[in-house]
Amino acid sequence: MATPSATPQGSVPGDHVIVISGATGDLARRKLLPGLYHLFRAGLLPDRFRVIGSAPAADALTDAAFREHARRAVAEFGRAAPEGGPWQEFADRLTFGAADPENPRPLVEAVQQAEREIGGSPQRLHHLAVPPQACASVVRMLGDCGLAHHARVIVEKPFGTDLASARALNQAIHTVFDESRVFRIDHFLGKESVDNILALRFANGLLEPVWNRDHISHVQIDVPEHIDIQGRAHFFEGTGTFRDMIVTHLFQLLGFIAMEPPATLDAPSLRAEKDKVFQSLRPLDPAHVVRGQYDGYRDEPGVDPASDTETFAALRLEIDNWRWAGVPFYLRSGKALAESRHVITLGFREPPLRMFPLAAQESADGRHNELVIDFDDPGTVTARFLAKRPGPEMRLTQAQMVFDYAGSFAQDHALEGYERLILDAMLGDQSLFTDAFGIETLWAAATPLLESPPPVRPYVKGSWGPSSVAELIQPHHWHLPQNS
Ligand code: BG6
Repeated sequence: MATPSATPQGSVPGDHVIVISGATGDLARRKLLPGLYHLFRAGLLPDRFRVIGSAPAADALTDAAFREHARRAVAEFGRAAPEGGPWQEFADRLTFGAADPENPRPLVEAVQQAEREIGGSPQRLHHLAVPPQACASVVRMLGDCGLAHHARVIVEKPFGTDLASARALNQAIHTVFDESRVFRIDHFLGKESVDNILALRFANGLLEPVWNRDHISHVQIDVPEHIDIQGRAHFFEGTGTFRDMIVTHLFQLLGFIAMEPPATLDAPSLRAEKDKVFQSLRPLDPAHVVRGQYDGYRDEPGVDPASDTETFAALRLEIDNWRWAGVPFYLRSGKALAESRHVITLGFREPPLRMFPLAAQESADGRHNELVIDFDDPGTVTARFLAKRPGPEMRLTQAQMVFDYAGSFAQDHALEGYERLILDAMLGDQSLFTDAFGIETLWAAATPLLESPPPVRPYVKGSWGPSSVAELIQPHHWHLPQNS
């Protein structure tokens, strides 16, 4: 039986056979194979495990070619070079099994072989690193050929492309895996600083009393990206920034920022509180959404020259519950912007009277009272406030206190988002994964926007998006770019 054990770094899962469907794709190369190697080096994988790469027969690799594929992936994207004893030990546990819906035999045999070598009855974990359109057919195949037995499944985002497709996908999955075995992954929720939002809010008496509509004027969740679509036209044309980033990563962050204190930190309580936030979301109003497209996007190889896909989205939304009624939340993300950042900003209300004049260089734009959570791993938390400028006059100027993760703690035990979440899935902990109800609730709130999207507006590469994004947030101001 696969049972976890505890080490100083945390729990180690019981014996496992991990199957990566889509093992020759981008995600496996950039994140999954390097992540698994890091977990192995950190001593967080069980003694007995195997990793089986899988793909349709047309892309099949031999075991040796898959090991070489993994070695290159780790060399390019991993944190430790794939060399020496540790690499050899890891590579020895990699094999490949092709699978198509009409012929899953090679994969079934590879799993059986791995299980014979491990002995006992290891837990199976399927990571579906496949596009949303392919997901249902892979799940059906796993069910039909018996590989769903004694197995958990990790499903990638975006989970469907609208409410109808998300429902259909949930139904298809539930005919094979019950909900307790489904892990809908969103790698943002594996980032250390996102966990720290829970610690910050619920472990301290300092912040929670002011974390509400009485003290907070607005919230920003801002994830600009400097990269463009990097050749991912095929994926991006059918997806766009709203589906790729907003309804997924940014909405999940919103859930953590806005949730009520959970009864306990277990998965059912956390997920229930997050789902309540999603249930309170007012349906998105297309009039409060800016969609943008960077100049030159339509010339990218594989992009429709008349494409209406957005590479930028910013929106204002409201949460109709007692804590947040009347507090606008602003979400923004886009490709080919001036910087890559991951920043949540809580703007605090000004005191009812300004008793002191500001120093000449300070603008009265209300950006003085902010709590800024930068979750670019390892991240910072900054409190921005006004302080008296030294001198005979009572003049106020901007000051800040910064908590810097990297400077405050050793990073030896830090895991990247995917690493943390794969480990959690192996341990059967669903706390940081999304449930079927939550996903469907988000798509339901997004429906008015998906049905009547505003036109895309052009923006210059390297800018902060279409100019109307400044109007969207009025009377507030975007925290980024800093010191603008
Ligand atoms: C992925 C999106 O989920 O997240 C990409 O598909 C995006 O388009 C990426 O670039 C951003 O992740 P991170 O962790 O690099 O900010």
